[in-house]
Amino acid sequence: MEHTISISAQAERIVTDTSSLPFGKIPTEHMFICEYADGGWQNPRIVPFHDLTLNPMALCLHYGQTVFEGMKAFYMDDGRVNIFRMDKHHDRFTKSLHRMCMPEVPKALFEAAICKLVALDVEWIPRDGDGALYIRPFMIATEARVGVKIADEYLFMVVCSPTFQYYSHPLKVKIENHFVRAAEGGTGTAKCGGNYGGAFYPTQLAKDEGYDQVLWTDSKNHEFIEESGTMNAMFFIDNVLVTPPLSGSILDGVTRDSLLAIARETGVAVEERSISYKELVRAFEEGKRVEAFGAGTAAVVAPIASIAIEGTEYACYLGDDALMYRLKHQLFGIRKGLAPDNHGWNCILK
Ligand code: COI
Repeated sequence: MEHTISISAQAERIVTDTSSLPFGKIPTEHMFICEYADGGWQNPRIVPFHDLTLNPMALCLHYGQTVFEGMKAFYMDDGRVNIFRMDKHHDRFTKSLHRMCMPEVPKALFEAAICKLVALDVEWIPRDGDGALYIRPFMIATEARVGVKIADEYLFMVVCSPTFQYYSHPLKVKIENHFVRAAEGGTGTAKCGGNYGGAFYPTQLAKDEGYDQVLWTDSKNHEFIEESGTMNAMFFIDNVLVTPPLSGSILDGVTRDSLLAIARETGVAVEERSISYKELVRAFEEGKRVEAFGAGTAAVVAPIASIAIEGTEYACYLGDDALMYRLKHQLFGIRKGLAPDNHGWNCILK
């Protein structure tokens, strides 16, 4: 079905310097919105950014039927705008929606919504350094009913926010071996709101102890690394890139996937396998060079400075020649159009 997106009158154009603001604080001027009712998506439109009116009985407020994506648009070196890996984000969005019994958004509608919105708010894309426009497509269940059921009505929306560096310093993390983020068979692979809300409490406890984030471990043994905060966990152990496999409880990160592909095609040894925190202890104690970092759309590559494991703090390698910085630089080069895009990841705004 063809969807025509209407665009409302321009809101007042105010582009402020947002570089010092916390991540995701300032919306751009417009948003995309579309309702699902009677089995189909209706009235797709771009309107000035505004608050929503929601029935207090809307199902999303009670039973957590919410799914989101996180994407980025960049200015390339030649001045064109690149919305990175729309395909893969749509694919993951679809899988998350399926897991949460929510209706799919046709790819053409998803892409048209994002492209038109980014084109309209293009002046909000930061041009320098780590700057990018963070794009947040999301869906919520809006049917008004406190009975526990799969909703029949939804909103699909896209909002955007200019973003710079997510973390200002290398992270101090601790192995979390009491609380878990997700279990196999649960919703850990879906980008649904509940996964993030459920992580707040253990993360806050870690922050109270002086850490920036936790390194989640598996739900059965509390031993094998899963994710780091809201990012995929990756390591270079003696120059081998090691990361947990997509076992069913971790997110299929787009940045994770991109970094693995870049590493493989540039001759880096890559191992997607389970990593016990005991293996990390051995590596540190044997004096191996251990780099650790989180990978995610918002944070890109977030270096980890130290990992606390059972009361001992182990320092990770952060030297200028760290391989994680090289990977980040290579990814940056592709996105900016400075290096060949061999995989067709760049979606250039027309
Ligand atoms: C992202 O990296 O895009 C995320 O979704 C993480 C966080 C901002 C929720």
